[in-house]
Amino acid sequence: MEATRIGVLGRGLLPLGEPVLRGDDLGVLRGDGLFETMHLRGGRPWLREAHLARLRVGAAAVELTLPGDAALVELLDTVAAGWPPEVEGALRLVCTRGPEGGGPPTVYATLAPVPPTARQARRDGVRVATLSLGVPADARPELGWLPAGIKSTSYGASTAARRWATRAGVDDVLWVSSDGYALEGPTANVVWLTGDTLCTVPARRTGILPGTTVAWLLANAATAGCRAAERMTTPAELRNADGVWLTSSVRGLVEVRTIDGEQLPRSPRTPGLRELLGFPLP
Ligand SMILES: Cc1ncc(COP(=O)(O)O)c(C=O)c1O
Repeated sequence: MEATRIGVLGRGLLPLGEPVLRGDDLGVLRGDGLFETMHLRGGRPWLREAHLARLRVGAAAVELTLPGDAALVELLDTVAAGWPPEVEGALRLVCTRGPEGGGPPTVYATLAPVPPTARQARRDGVRVATLSLGVPADARPELGWLPAGIKSTSYGASTAARRWATRAGVDDVLWVSSDGYALEGPTANVVWLTGDTLCTVPARRTGILPGTTVAWLLANAATAGCRAAERMTTPAELRNADGVWLTSSVRGLVEVRTIDGEQLPRSPRTPGLRELLGFPLP
């Protein structure tokens, strides 16, 4: 198994034990930072431009000044150089606000093999439970002051939801708004098939993260003989859909096998969609 790598902007690849951040870095103290996780395939980050574009949108939303794309790409290239092309990787780019008191942003990248659990989920699917987010579906974008749909390093709610899932004996969570709409998972978008239409939840209206994987899938839906649409939906509608999946950069596409304990039929579309996205099985 390949060892994890860490590279820091301006410092190159570091030995694993070497310090990367100062203890007063605002990324650590306040979760004040952004990140992107890319799927490294054939030694290259898939959808790199889409990830960098989303990072730029997030940076503008939280007023974080980042180095130019050329410097970020050079860092990613440094970390990925020589990685065996047959080993799938999770390549993470992290940009924090830097040391307290006004330092430059801290920018670093990590690369690790895709964990076996992700590959297993691609093969076996996942059991999910609905979990209330406690706010109406359109509440967050309506606030105006709150940057919505950014990939912030503040993942406290996501990790709490994941722990809740473990206690509830399921693999993942589907967040539901207080007015009953299915939104997203703590680290994934939800995709479903109605007839021949592949659907996902509108990010702009709900403030969920606009996923790079789902965006690519819907843009290429015609290759799978499908139409594409953004729609609001409910867990009850999902239970009657012609297929339900979670999508994200590292797991790829995983089929939802149960929602709140209720079995969903296996979708014959799953292998074709996963192959379209280019994610291998274990
Ligand atoms: C909250 C949330 N929604 C959706 C996604 C999926 O986004 P992407 O496909 O760009 O990985 C993620 C990824 O981690 C996420 O954290």
